[in-house]
Amino acid sequence: MLPYNIDHVAIAVRDLDATLADMKSQYGAEPVSREIVESQGVEEAMIPIGGSNVQVLQPLTPDSPIGRFLAKRGEGLHHIAFAVPDIDAAIEHLKSTGARMIDTETRIGGGGHRIAFVHPSAFAGTLVELVEGAT
Ligand code: CO
Repeated sequence: MLPYNIDHVAIAVRDLDATLADMKSQYGAEPVSREIVESQGVEEAMIPIGGSNVQVLQPLTPDSPIGRFLAKRGEGLHHIAFAVPDIDAAIEHLKSTGARMIDTETRIGGGGHRIAFVHPSAFAGTLVELVEGAT
């Protein structure tokens, strides 16, 4: 079940445009995609860095998961996404280790990929996203 890549590292922000402008001026990095993902209540952009990406998340509403995260903890690191070849097998494996899952069934994330979240209590307080078949 070894992930084959860090698909992305995600940060939660209040102002997506301002953050993308900072990424461009500070690192010369620009997004390859930007989309609204209604199911997660976010507008998100993917910025490739080497073999991985930085994902920037802006909430669509204050009562969405990212909106609540910002209210509680402010801007910053939100989750790490591991790319896995078979997400169903990965979920089953994690469950067998006793890891607490937020999603025991996959859902569809940005780019149409199948994703699932693992509760932060499973991994040093860090929210982990599994992404099937990305980067
Ligand atoms: Co993500």
